[in-house]
Amino acid sequence: MDDSTRARFFDALWNDFVDIAPHAADIRRALEEAGETVANDHVAFRTFDRGPIALSALEPIILQLGYKPFDEYHFPEKHLRARAYLCANSPRIFMSELIVGELSEGARQIVQSCTSALRTPLTKPSDLHLGRPWPALPFSAYERLAEESEYAAWLCALGLRANHFTVSVNALRRFATVSEVLDFVEQRGYRINAAGGRVKGSPGVYLEQGSTMADQRPVAFSDGSHVVPTCYYEFALRHPTAAGILYEGFVSQSADKIFESTHKL
Ligand code: NI
Repeated sequence: MDDSTRARFFDALWNDFVDIAPHAADIRRALEEAGETVANDHVAFRTFDRGPIALSALEPIILQLGYKPFDEYHFPEKHLRARAYLCANSPRIFMSELIVGELSEGARQIVQSCTSALRTPLTKPSDLHLGRPWPALPFSAYERLAEESEYAAWLCALGLRANHFTVSVNALRRFATVSEVLDFVEQRGYRINAAGGRVKGSPGVYLEQGSTMADQRPVAFSDGSHVVPTCYYEFALRHPTAAGILYEGFVSQSADKIFESTHKL
């Protein structure tokens, strides 16, 4: 796949994302007005380990975009596994999936009521932002799920799309640290995810990250529209490893807390 096709995919993905997370577009505009050129460090997706939306079933689409698998990560407390993919001159892709079999019977049944109708294989890059491919749940089922797995509730309500985009702090000129970017964002009135500290990671693990809290937007449920957390914007600074090469991976302990950016406050 050529660079311009890939760029069009990321443009469409961004447009879908800012539709439900308009604060990210505002922050990007504010950075650009401050003279910055905003480059993406990575984009992240969420899915269930079920049928045509399982990570292994969606992976061929990521490879079709020109990416190569890079590494795997595990989040036992959140019942998640994830893979990272790399492609030269493009944002890294981080895709996690929920191991549905590890949820309680009640939560598993709600997720299966969503995923069991899925039959058709997903094959096109645009399928990665097709949204919710199952009927809307009752809001009470969403709330029941969120008690046990905020991730499962988010995914049932919002479906396949970018969960977050991440600004590369390395590519910014007037910001040297993640903390400075978070201050800039906070001064404009946006909330920062403080779970595990504002800045997750350190130069010692070669990656520092911070993020906003997700936008709160009305989303359609079977019994009408309810305001729920949608998507957030992240900021990442990468450091060179001992070999002198910029670190390309992710840090599970930090990502574990970044997942909580879609928690309801
Ligand atoms: Ni991220």
